[in-house]
Amino acid sequence: MSQNFWNTLDRPILILAPMAGYTESPFRRLIREIEPSVLLVSELVSAEALRRGNEKTMRMIEFVPEEKNYYAVQLFGNEVSAFIEAGKIVQDLGVDYIDINLGCPSPKVVGSGHGSALLKDPCTTAKLIEKLVQSVDIPVTVKMRLGFYDDEGLIDTAKTFESAGISALAIHGRTTKQKFAGQADWTKIYEVKEHLSIPVIGNGDITSARIAQQKLQNLDGVMIGRAAMRNPWIFKQTRDVFEGRDPSPKPALSEQLDFFRQHADLATEFKNERWAMIELRKHFSHFVRGVRNAAVFRDKLIRIESREEMEQIFEEILRHELPPK
Ligand SMILES: Cc1cc2nc3c(=O)[nH]c(=O)nc-3n(C[C@H](O)[C@H](O)[C@H](O)COP(=O)(O)O)c2cc1C
Repeated sequence: MSQNFWNTLDRPILILAPMAGYTESPFRRLIREIEPSVLLVSELVSAEALRRGNEKTMRMIEFVPEEKNYYAVQLFGNEVSAFIEAGKIVQDLGVDYIDINLGCPSPKVVGSGHGSALLKDPCTTAKLIEKLVQSVDIPVTVKMRLGFYDDEGLIDTAKTFESAGISALAIHGRTTKQKFAGQADWTKIYEVKEHLSIPVIGNGDITSARIAQQKLQNLDGVMIGRAAMRNPWIFKQTRDVFEGRDPSPKPALSEQLDFFRQHADLATEFKNERWAMIELRKHFSHFVRGVRNAAVFRDKLIRIESREEMEQIFEEILRHELPPK
């Protein structure tokens, strides 16, 4: 394997969690612009579809040079040959590392024996991982849950994956059965770290920079997902706190809206205005929670059809937010 960047990355490591339907290239680029040290990961893509060169899937893993250092494609599947072929395709595209999805709880993915279903048989999964690691020159990492039904075999599973040659392990502190219910249990993640020598990254329920700092403990880094949709500045704030500074304040509302203008520009460039607006609707529904009269604007923003309409709603939001002169 060529030089493995995971060994030399500055700690604590910050990663934008992969989120299907949200962490597409335009959003990832903006997150990277706000905090250059964040590692980026594609949405989960099927190894089998990549192997077949499926056009939609190839489009899903597209990235721009600004995303490099470091950008991963996340693969799901359960067939060794598909993983190897997909891994080689990804490597040839210049992606920095491959992440294997062992966390997805969605019935469709689990039902086909993919995603977190692979946690049910860690030994077979470790063999699959090992073959992929041996077939590519870029690092391979795993993102997993605590377990499928429970967390009983977690430490052994993590050790098995480390022996299979992964370069880092990210753990979402919930089981598959929990889906998103309850609280993520980070104590199990700290325990895993005690037994592994590769970097271990914690994930689950980080909602602010201060919480990221509290949760970090003995880990090498943290991965943040949903909170980044409400507050894309969370990575900058977290880096501030990790470096001993107070977290920089969230920008003023007008600047926050500029983030969406930029998002709209990049998404339009990436595909087209229609796609960009549909894409932004999802992001708005998360973001708008923090805005005064959220319900009214949410209703409008999740239906936007055009850039013009977006600008009109932004003006309304600003009129509501700013005190009258
Ligand atoms: C809408 C959505 C889509 C997700 N898609 C993926 C995915 O493609 N791959 C993956 O490993 N995890 C996926 N996840 C899980 C997140 O990466 C993360 O593990 C989870 O949201 C917990 O972290 P958080 O509390 O910081 O959001 C998704 C989560 C959400 C909410």
